[in-house]
Amino acid sequence: MGDCFDCGHCLAICPTESISLNVFKDQSNPVEDYDPCEIPVNSEDFLQFLKQRRSIRWFKKKKIDKKTFGKLFEAAYYSPSAQNAQDVEFVVLDEKLDDFMHLVYDIISAEEDKFFRIKQFGEYLRGKCDNKKHPLLWEGHQMILSFSKSQANALIANTRLELLAYTMGLGGFYSLFTLKADEINHDKLMEFFPEIDSDKHMYSAFVIGYPRVRYRRTVPHKKIDVYFK
Ligand SMILES: Cc1cc2nc3c(=O)[nH]c(=O)nc-3n(C[C@H](O)[C@H](O)[C@H](O)COP(=O)(O)O)c2cc1C
Repeated sequence: MGDCFDCGHCLAICPTESISLNVFKDQSNPVEDYDPCEIPVNSEDFLQFLKQRRSIRWFKKKKIDKKTFGKLFEAAYYSPSAQNAQDVEFVVLDEKLDDFMHLVYDIISAEEDKFFRIKQFGEYLRGKCDNKKHPLLWEGHQMILSFSKSQANALIANTRLELLAYTMGLGGFYSLFTLKADEINHDKLMEFFPEIDSDKHMYSAFVIGYPRVRYRRTVPHKKIDVYFK
């Protein structure tokens, strides 16, 4: 059984419920039965939901509580991962978000001359910015970071969590400049996260909250190129 990576497909398909996974025996891992002939989501509704999703930068002051975050991480829990590594770890930044953003600035200021937004961020932190909104967080006050050895694993897990969030009346946006901190000085960044294996990288930074705006229509997009060969 050297090739087995505990994906659980044998357990999920077994008609007589005769299989359990040794590796998960000690944990309270729920196994739920479902109707194998039912797809619980309607495709047209789901596509419409995807069309209506907008990045949210304008938030209410209300914060997301731990129970709600718990629900979101259930979506990540069921995420696929390369060789079933299940290696994605998350950090929710709330009280320490300001400290973290100062660290991010310390690191990414090395590229201040290349990116106007980083320069604006520095001016904002020094109180010299005309723009009252935070140049990286806008009105956000909570952020989810994902860490993994695999960029694909981290992004897939975060995307699932993000989509579930929208079904729960939440919203958010990905922050590219926050991610730059990992690209520019990974070791310094990881000092903020001693609980996380430093071989893992921060591959998504998602600012999340309760939207205070509602969009009314879809937005045109560039034609998508798809090649069938
Ligand atoms: C990888 C990634 C990085 C992004 N970085 C930022 C960012 O730093 N700041 C921001 O306000 N929006 C950011 N966004 C959001 C995009 O600007 C947004 O997705 C795009 O303008 C399309 O708008 P929509 O998401 O509402 O369809 C990012 C999105 C992605 C996927």
